[in-house]
Amino acid sequence: MANLSSFSSQEFEKLPKETCWESFDLYKFQGFWYPGFILSGVLGAQSHFEARSDDVILASFPKTGTTWLKALCSCILQEHDHDHDDQLSLKNPHALVRTLEYDLFKDDVTLPDIDLSTMPSPRLFHTHMAYSHLPDSVLKNPDCKIVYITRNPKDVFVSNWHFSNSDSWRTSPEPYPMEKVFDEVCKGHQFYGPFFDHVLEFWFESLKMPEKILFLKYEEMKRDPKGELKKLAAFLGRPFSNEEQVEKVLWRSSFDRLKNLEVNKNGVVFDMELSNKLFFRRGIVGDWKNYFTDEMKKKLDEISCMKLEGSGLDFEM
Ligand code: A3P
Repeated sequence: MANLSSFSSQEFEKLPKETCWESFDLYKFQGFWYPGFILSGVLGAQSHFEARSDDVILASFPKTGTTWLKALCSCILQEHDHDHDDQLSLKNPHALVRTLEYDLFKDDVTLPDIDLSTMPSPRLFHTHMAYSHLPDSVLKNPDCKIVYITRNPKDVFVSNWHFSNSDSWRTSPEPYPMEKVFDEVCKGHQFYGPFFDHVLEFWFESLKMPEKILFLKYEEMKRDPKGELKKLAAFLGRPFSNEEQVEKVLWRSSFDRLKNLEVNKNGVVFDMELSNKLFFRRGIVGDWKNYFTDEMKKKLDEISCMKLEGSGLDFEM
């Protein structure tokens, strides 16, 4: 592990570097690609985040269902609060469950904009970091739980392509050339990539420590929302006592409801001022079929087979 507190811009420049989405410089740090501003936040969180035993860390690769998971988990924990209001009607899930790197920790010296030590337990946080990059206090505390969500990589790519085309910092009206960025992604050159390495780290750790890490798939949550939600609530130590509670959490967190809330139609989140509406596009399984060429499908299927072989994990593609 690098001496994080001494990681400077000169050190960044010594890392392998690639460009992704035509404009972002990515740095390869211990196996994973980050843009500089996110890597600074990763290092800040590694240096300063102190996990509590009853913290819950939601983890995901971008565009795999993070927003849904944040909504569900905040509802589950809130459901047992006596004076709970429906926070989701007022705040985007990303404002309710904040991301360690880039939202709370910006770098190794800047403190988060809220005092994390005063947050009531159980605290919910999120990260897109690779498992091996999580702060030591998370990794070493067997009671600090992690919920990881993943999704089939074809839908992840399509979701990411749309999201990146709509980014507020993007100036060109032309969409990114899909096949060019697909080639970059296949090489792992994207924020937090390579995708399969990210997924497999969490997958193998979840097999070793099922009481610490719950591994969820977007497609299974779509297929059996009640079953997956009950599993999630039980893992968080908050099992439901009746079906009405299950229905309520599912409805409150549902795509159709969240997408149409005023806060998500017009609000913004993060300092980067991303529009909340960007996090709600179609919310379906299999949208890749509307975009992938035969060659793209073949190539990603081959990479999936090679990467997942022998792991016991599959994406039913
Ligand atoms: P699509 O772009 O395929 O529609 P993330 O939250 O990790 O950024 O992932 C975004 C994806 O999750 C988007 O997928 C988005 O539409 C979908 N999504 C957002 N909220 C959802 C919800 N409540 N239920 C199901 N899918 C949701």
